[in-house]
Amino acid sequence: MGSLTVNPAKDCALVEELAGPAAGLFNRHLSVSKEWYPFEDIPWGDATDFAEEAWNAQQYPLSQGVQSAIIVNVLTEDNLPYYTHTLLSPIKEDHPLREWSRRWTAEEWRHSAAIRDWILATRAIDPYRLEDDRMAQMSKGQVPESDSVAEMIAYVSFQELATQVAHRNTGQALDKTRRGKKIMSKIAGDEGLHHAFYRDLVLAALEIDPSTMMMAIQSELRNFKMPGTGIPGFTRHEEAIALAGIFGAQQFLDAVVKPTLSYWRIFDLEDLSAEADQAREKMSRNLAGLTRLAAAQQARIAAMQA
Ligand SMILES: [Fe+2]
Ligand SMILES: [Fe+2]
Repeated sequence: MGSLTVNPAKDCALVEELAGPAAGLFNRHLSVSKEWYPFEDIPWGDATDFAEEAWNAQQYPLSQGVQSAIIVNVLTEDNLPYYTHTLLSPIKEDHPLREWSRRWTAEEWRHSAAIRDWILATRAIDPYRLEDDRMAQMSKGQVPESDSVAEMIAYVSFQELATQVAHRNTGQALDKTRRGKKIMSKIAGDEGLHHAFYRDLVLAALEIDPSTMMMAIQSELRNFKMPGTGIPGFTRHEEAIALAGIFGAQQFLDAVVKPTLSYWRIFDLEDLSAEADQAREKMSRNLAGLTRLAAAQQARIAAMQA
């Protein structure tokens, strides 16, 4: 995603220097992440055979926004192999980011398994439509692209936290008895750890080459799109999810962008190149734009509820 803001030679040197921090962060991840089993929380006793009883929307009525959130959440998890492929293509075989990415991919599959089994047992979503949409999305293999590893790790830092917020808020909209809340909350916990890995990798990169990272972060923030653009009807889903208050511009600004930029101390960075300093100024304008967008979206939600 984005125009070529990062010098390829500088990006290569940065990736080399990130081997040590990446290995350390991977070990930290292994020590804090908890194994869990995606089949354990599924209400299997509620499940019925689709050949005997056809699916219908009244079996588990959910608002359009919540349905869209569940569909986008599970299909995004399904598409992980393409993200892995994109992230790994510029990384050398023996770099610790490869080992991390394999573990990350394995964990994301667990999320997809848990959400899909839960959907099938509770009949929350039309399973035929879901499978058709999965085939359509995965046959395209469309994922956000970046021109450099610097931009990729900046993007994934925002995206993992955004995904955590989206999963957590989806869970909040579900009832306890059918266990959707519990499953979404377990998944949100993993996403928080994924975010912590990339966020701290970016922090290490900011120490190595603050100017390159400043430009990469600004570029990714300006162009940010949630993953899932290859999902049929993605724009419609995105709108419904935002209007349901699950994830929109306001959540992106308050729960993703602001805490992440402040963790990185973006506005305290010193010794930036002239170009990177300009990128930081642009970022302030981007943030003002995002603030206006969030206010407009909140006004639409308020008008709908009036
Ligand atoms: Fe996930
Ligand atoms: Fe994740």
